[in-house]
Order: sequence, then C-alpha cells, then structure tokens
Amino acid sequence: MSSQFHFVVCISLVAAPIHGFVKSLENDYQKTKENNPSKVEALHSPATFQWNEKHAEIATNGTKTGNWSSTRISIDSKNIKKGDLFVALKGRHFDGHDFLNEAFAKGAVAAIVSEPKNTNYPLVIVEDTLQALQHMASFCIKHILLDTKIIAVTGSVGKTTTKDMLHSTLSQFGVSHTNRGNFNNHIGLPLTILSAPRNCQYLVLEMGMSEKGEIQRLSDISKPDIAVITNIEHAHSANFHSLFDIARAKLEILYGIKPNGTIILNKDNQYYDYLSSQSYKSGFNVMSFGKHQNTCTIQLLNTTRNGTGLNFKVKLPNNKITNLYLKVFGEHFVYSALATIAVLEALKLELPQNVFEAFKIPNGRGNMHSIQYGDEHILLIDDSYNANPASMKAAIKSLDMHSDGRKVAILGDMLELGNERVKFHTELYDCVTKTNVDKVHTVGELMLELHNLLPEAKKGSHFNSSHQVVSNLSDIIQNNDIILVKGSRGMKMELIVKAILSV
Ligand SMILES: *[C@@H]1O[C@H](CO)[C@@H](O)[C@H](O)[C@H]1NC(C)=O
Ligand SMILES: *[C@@H]1O[C@H](CO)[C@@H](O)[C@H](O)[C@H]1NC(C)=O
Ligand SMILES: *[C@@H]1O[C@H](CO)[C@@H](O)[C@H](O)[C@H]1NC(C)=O
Ligand SMILES: *[C@@H]1O[C@H](CO)[C@@H](O)[C@H](O)[C@H]1NC(C)=O
Ligand SMILES: *[C@@H]1O[C@H](CO)[C@@H](O)[C@H](O)[C@H]1NC(C)=O
Ligand SMILES: *[C@@H]1O[C@H](CO)[C@@H](O)[C@H](O)[C@H]1NC(C)=O
Ligand SMILES: *[C@@H]1O[C@H](CO)[C@@H](O)[C@H](O)[C@H]1NC(C)=O
Repeated sequence: MSSQFHFVVCISLVAAPIHGFVKSLENDYQKTKENNPSKVEALHSPATFQWNEKHAEIATNGTKTGNWSSTRISIDSKNIKKGDLFVALKGRHFDGHDFLNEAFAKGAVAAIVSEPKNTNYPLVIVEDTLQALQHMASFCIKHILLDTKIIAVTGSVGKTTTKDMLHSTLSQFGVSHTNRGNFNNHIGLPLTILSAPRNCQYLVLEMGMSEKGEIQRLSDISKPDIAVITNIEHAHSANFHSLFDIARAKLEILYGIKPNGTIILNKDNQYYDYLSSQSYKSGFNVMSFGKHQNTCTIQLLNTTRNGTGLNFKVKLPNNKITNLYLKVFGEHFVYSALATIAVLEALKLELPQNVFEAFKIPNGRGNMHSIQYGDEHILLIDDSYNANPASMKAAIKSLDMHSDGRKVAILGDMLELGNERVKFHTELYDCVTKTNVDKVHTVGELMLELHNLLPEAKKGSHFNSSHQVVSNLSDIIQNNDIILVKGSRGMKMELIVKAILSV
C-alpha cells in the first residue's frame, strides 16, 4: 500500500480579507472577556449570531442591495419564518431563485442569490449561493464561535451513534450543539454551524461523504479541534474503488484540523497504522481506542451482557479501570462509547460516573424491545434504519451474546455497494455459519444470493419485500425468540418492526 496522501496548501474557503469591521467584532468579545467577564453572557445575546448585510457581504464576498438583520438562515422556502434570511440554492431538480417571492411573502427579510432577479427586496448577490452558505459557516467558526470546541466525527459505520453519544455526554458538561438527523453534508453541516448558539461550548459535527473531496471541504469549513474516525469499512462505497480509497477520503479530515489538534482512531481497524502514521506526519496528536493488545489510549477490557444492555470495563490513560453500562445490544456500540471517552480525555474532562446511563439509541439503530407478541414473549432488536457489510456482520455476531432463546435474523438487502454487491451478501455465509444464529430469513434480490447458499438448518424463508414479511410474521415468530431486523434504508425493514410492535 503506497501512501500518496499529499497535503497540498490548503486554500481557505473564506474569499474576502478579514475586514476591520470583523476584527472589531472579535476584539469586542476578547476585551469584554478579559475586562468584564460577567458581561460575556450579554455578548451571546441573541442566542444565535445576528447577521446583517455587512457581515453577509464580508463573509460571502457578495454585493448587498439593502439593509436587514437576521438570526435564522433557511434554504427551504416552504419552511420560512418571519425574519429569516433565505439562501437560494440551486440543485439538479430545483432552483431556490424560483421561490424568492414565496420566501419574502412568508416573511424572509433578505435573500442570498446568484441571479438578482427580484430587486425589490434586500439581496446579497454572490457568484455561487452554496459557496456563500459555506463561507458564512466558515465565518461563524472563525469570528463568532471563538470559545467553542469543534469535534468532528466521520467514519464508515457508527458515526451517527458516536455523534449522538458525544452530544449527550458533552451536554452534561455545558452547552453542546450538534447536527439534526443526517445534516452531515456540504449543505447540512453549514446549516448546523449557522444554527449553533453563540455560547455553545461544544459543537459536534458529523461528516458524511459520498465522494472524494467532500470531507476535505467539510473539515476546512469547520476547523475541528478534535476529529474522530470511527472506522474504515465498506459503506456507501459505490463511488470508491477500494477500502484504501475510502481510508484516504476519510483522512481528508486532516486538512481542516487546527494546529496541534487531536485525531482519535480505532486501533482495531485494519487501517489504523495508515491513518495514525499520516496523522503523526502532519503534526497532530493521535489517541486510540479499542481492544488491541493493551496498547490503546482508551482500552476495552471486557464486555458482558446485562439484561437489555451491556456492562463493559475500560482502562483509561491513568491506568484507572472503570465499569460502565450502556443500553445497547451489541459490542459495536461500545466502540462509540470508547470514542466518546477519548474525546473527554482530549478535552481534559473527567469521566462522570454512569456517564452513559441516560443514553438512548434512537429508534432503528439497534435498540431492544422486550415485548409480548400475542401469547409469546420476544426480544426484538430494531436495527432497521440502515445496513452495510460491517454493521451487518457486527449485528449478526452480537446476536450470539444473547443466549437464552432461538436467535432469528430477518435481513434485508444492503444497497449502494457498487460492483461487488453480490459478494458482500454471499460472504455473510461465513458469519452466519460461524455464529449460533438459528434461522435467517432474507428480504430482497441480493439477500436471495445468501438465502440460496445457507445450510438447510439455518435457511429461513425468502421474501421479495418487507411487506411480504409483514403478512407472514406469525409463521416466523416463536415464543422466547430473539429477533434481529436489519437492512438498508431503501428496504423499509422498519415496516416489519412496526408490525411486530403493533400486535
Ligand atoms: C470578490 O468579488 C469580486 C467581484 O464582485 C471579484 O472581482 C473578486 O475576485 C472576488 N474576490 C475573491 C477573493 O473571490
Ligand atoms: C436601513 O437603511 C435605511 C435607509 O438607508 C435607514 O434609514 C435605516 O436606519 C437602516 N436600518 C438599519 C437597521 O440599519
Ligand atoms: C499540543 O497538544 C498536546 C496534547 O493535547 C498538549 O499536551 C500540548 O501542550 C500542546 N502544545 C501546544 C504548543 O499547545
Ligand atoms: C469478563 O467479565 C466476566 C464477568 O465479570 C468474567 O466472567 C470474564 O472472565 C471476563 N472476561 C475477560 C476476558 O476478562
Ligand atoms: C446491570 O446494569 C444495571 C444498570 O446499570 C446495574 O444496576 C446492575 O448492577 C448491572 N448488573 C450487573 C450484574 O452488573
Ligand atoms: C418474487 O419475485 C420473483 C422474481 O421477481 C417473482 O417471480 C415472484 O413471483 C415474486 N413473489 C411474490 C410472492 O411476489
Ligand atoms: C406468505 O404467506 C402467504 C399467504 O399465507 C403464503 O402463500 C406464502 O407462501 C408465504 N410466503 C413465504 C415466503 O412463506
């Protein structure tokens, strides 16, 4: 494996020079902080930064046609509220410029546009409205969120859970802000930054990617103090030739990390050596987590099942051993907890007792339901939100930990995997036959390939769609079963979960 990762000179996204006007914004803040700390809180009012035409002009290198001020930035004319600043984005199938009248009718105070069609309203005219949105987010990071620790999370699997766990944990220490849902791309991430309250101490930003170059852009906008790469696996990999390509693309996160920043890596992942050596070369601090041979910064020592959750034992850098509990069904979730502990360590925050006790996995991400299904008592594992080869294997292996009843998996196709998609399904054979899963039901044409290979004893039924499973549920479920439901978003496996829960 050759390392051809070159750090080209990073071209800052902010086009305009730092203006005296902006400098005074920062100076006012710093001076108040030094001379009159009790007044700092007042500088945080209103809660989110109040943009006006001058800030917008400077941030975007645009041209203003009127004056206004706004604390809310919106790209969706349908959901505009009174006082919003509307950014007219152009997509493949839509053009925000067509909705300018609607936006203003609903109360927008100004719009950022690249075509000055409607000059009756205050506008900021820019070359490219998407870039303008990103430049505004960048402006916020550089000049407004001066005391905010920026924590970036990327990786192939588990980044949403890690992001959620970080936000939930950091909220125990102060004001934390994070992206809603999957606001993790070149549009969602700037919007997340722009909606952060000014007094936010921790900003947790998930970064997704569907192609090369995307993470670089997101990292460059956000300038993280700390970056987590959860792992390198096959997921949404249709646009990448190899796992190494994915590793390189994730490593683009280094472009934006602040000098002397910290990168947190999974030592049990096969790309650890590559990722860590490139990070060291670039001058960053590296911390690791995992089980790996007693040499991780945050070391997982032992995981045991406890009811509908897991107890796990972790060794911290000071050699202290701590016992933790997490309400999840599989050890792969524990890795999100390890990454979270590493971030606390990097921020020099003391790990609280029972830190993860309050953490609840969102529906569909692997949460467990202990329920009555008609006359039967079953344990349902709802992992229906999404699937890729790594998370699928992890979920099947985790069924093994639950040894009381019959272990049943209902598995839907894994999508967006490119040319090797059939191989990724047939290779689940090993995972199924090496674990003591009792029955595997399959859904979808790719899973049919697995179905055809399975030994008779483990072969369940095959279905064309999750709808068909729903109409045959009573044939599949027995008393005391532990049932895992998992598949890609497009397979609508959540319909099966809903049907089971609604009986
Ligand atoms: C800013 O915009 C002007 C035109 O309005 C353009 O000539 C100039 O090159 C831009 N500057 C940068 C740094 O993009
Ligand atoms: C906006 O501009 C008008 C006319 O130039 C001026 O009268 C008004 O005070 C300005 N408002 C703000 C908020 O700057
Ligand atoms: C760089 O970061 C490390 C680890 O967080 C810290 O110990 C060190 O003091 C920092 N160095 C500078 C010059 O800030
Ligand atoms: C893990 O913990 C369980 C329960 O405390 C114990 O029985 C087991 O031996 C431990 N395993 C390891 C590898 O330490
Ligand atoms: C299981 O977890 C609960 C909740 O944290 C805890 O109170 C209990 O002691 C744990 N049981 C064992 C055997 O560790
Ligand atoms: C499932 O799909 C196959 C192939 O597309 C088709 O032949 C079969 O009739 C379908 N079965 C049902 C129950 O819809
Ligand atoms: C599902 O149920 C229908 C109707 O009871 C039955 O005809 C069909 O064979 C079942 N499908 C599977 C895959 O078991």
